[in-house]
Amino acid sequence: MIEIIGPLANPAAANRARSAEKTAPLQKQLIERLQQAILAGRLPAGSLLPSSRLLATEMGVSRNTVVIAYEHLAAVGYVVADKKGTRVSPLSSPAARGEPSANPAASEATYAARVGQFAAAHTQADNSLPLTPGTPALDRFPLPAWRRAQERSMERALPQALGYGTPVGEPALRDAIAAHLRMARGVRCEGSQVVITEGAQEALNLCVRLFTNPGDVAWVEDPGYRGAKAAFNLGDLTTLPMPVDAEGIVVPPKAWAAHPPKLIYTSPAHQYPTGAVLSVARRLDLIAQARRSGAWLIEDDYDGEFRHTGEPIASMQGLVDDAPVLYVGSFSKTMFPALRIGFVVLPRAIAERAAVALHEMLRGGHRLEQLALAHFIESGEFGRHLGRMRRLYRERQQALRDALTAHFAPASILGGECGMHLTLCLPPRIADRSLAERALAQGLNPRALSGFALRPRAQTNGLVIGYGNTSAEQLAPAIRTLSLIARRGR
Ligand SMILES: Cc1ncc(COP(=O)(O)O)c(C=O)c1O
Repeated sequence: MIEIIGPLANPAAANRARSAEKTAPLQKQLIERLQQAILAGRLPAGSLLPSSRLLATEMGVSRNTVVIAYEHLAAVGYVVADKKGTRVSPLSSPAARGEPSANPAASEATYAARVGQFAAAHTQADNSLPLTPGTPALDRFPLPAWRRAQERSMERALPQALGYGTPVGEPALRDAIAAHLRMARGVRCEGSQVVITEGAQEALNLCVRLFTNPGDVAWVEDPGYRGAKAAFNLGDLTTLPMPVDAEGIVVPPKAWAAHPPKLIYTSPAHQYPTGAVLSVARRLDLIAQARRSGAWLIEDDYDGEFRHTGEPIASMQGLVDDAPVLYVGSFSKTMFPALRIGFVVLPRAIAERAAVALHEMLRGGHRLEQLALAHFIESGEFGRHLGRMRRLYRERQQALRDALTAHFAPASILGGECGMHLTLCLPPRIADRSLAERALAQGLNPRALSGFALRPRAQTNGLVIGYGNTSAEQLAPAIRTLSLIARRGR
């Protein structure tokens, strides 16, 4: 037997000790060795184990140690004991059945088919690097005010707030968000329509779960936000790319009949990443057509809070009564990305009808953060922070525009009416992915425009350049470096 399970570590020394704690490791060792031998098939099903007396002598341990080990193995089902002795149970481990062992975790075939649809579009880089799109000014976030809001929520809501919360989110936050959206974004809603989610991404996933069945068709903007495509992949939807021009998403008239969608993802305030603002004519047309064909429009109000030119453009959701719009928002840019709080505003009737399902699907957590955020909004801190960030981003955008004009003219620059990034179009001789990679090697993190494309096209060649977390002083030298890298070529 010792050849099969191997000798135990220092059994003589351990046996000499009298106390129960000191002999326990020997039992544990013996149990583990026997288990391993059974699972690996070295002790096949049905084989008779030596008597406790014989094994004790062979292993140099007390008989009691073996008896206890056998009893434990019998209790968990590795062996069965009867009058004739102790035998190995028939187990379903492949090795115990004498089958070759494969590592299923390493095999592609063990993943769900949808996992294969995800492709890495961008190199994973530190998203606090200069020029990273989508990162707000982290060092300008009002930490003292946030700390006060957190302390207040702890003082007032503990210990109750350590328990599960309402699955759709803290009522105080839902009300605060609804009041803010009515005033700032023209959204027609009450707190009861707001579902709090783990960022906009989870809100998109929720839209898929609530409104689609596998195989349904979803339209996405192309180039567009990869998070939407990811959510549609997870729902096993058939995703159809729709082109984008200077007025936003373009829907070929025949598409409604040829590929009727269940969901249509749009970012009307500031198309991501081209920066186009969806025209009112197209908004109204989308709403009318979606209504006719029973589709839902997802309005990702990305960047809507940071409008830099002209009058604020209200949300598509609020444009007409009862628009078939699922309004998605996030605090990742208006507060900070790690907060992971977003939301979806459901139409009133849907919110009522989906209540039971939502309560089963979701769990209420992050209650203290939600309560702190509710207070942050209600106390006016959030509005003041947004105002300060709007002014800051305007200055930074101007600095970026000046630097791009100085170093890349006559290349065209897209976007800028809202948000925290500009998109620089590149001539075909400069491949955007290669330029982005070389920039990253220099500590700069603009993103290749082609990485946002679902269908590769020659004109989708450029750089998406963030200015949210890059100061005006950093921008000029960073763009100079970028132009030098571009001129150097490969
Ligand atoms: C277009 C768009 N929508 C939404 C988000 C926010 O996503 P989340 O709230 O999951 O951080 C991002 C983040 O970069 C985005 O680019």
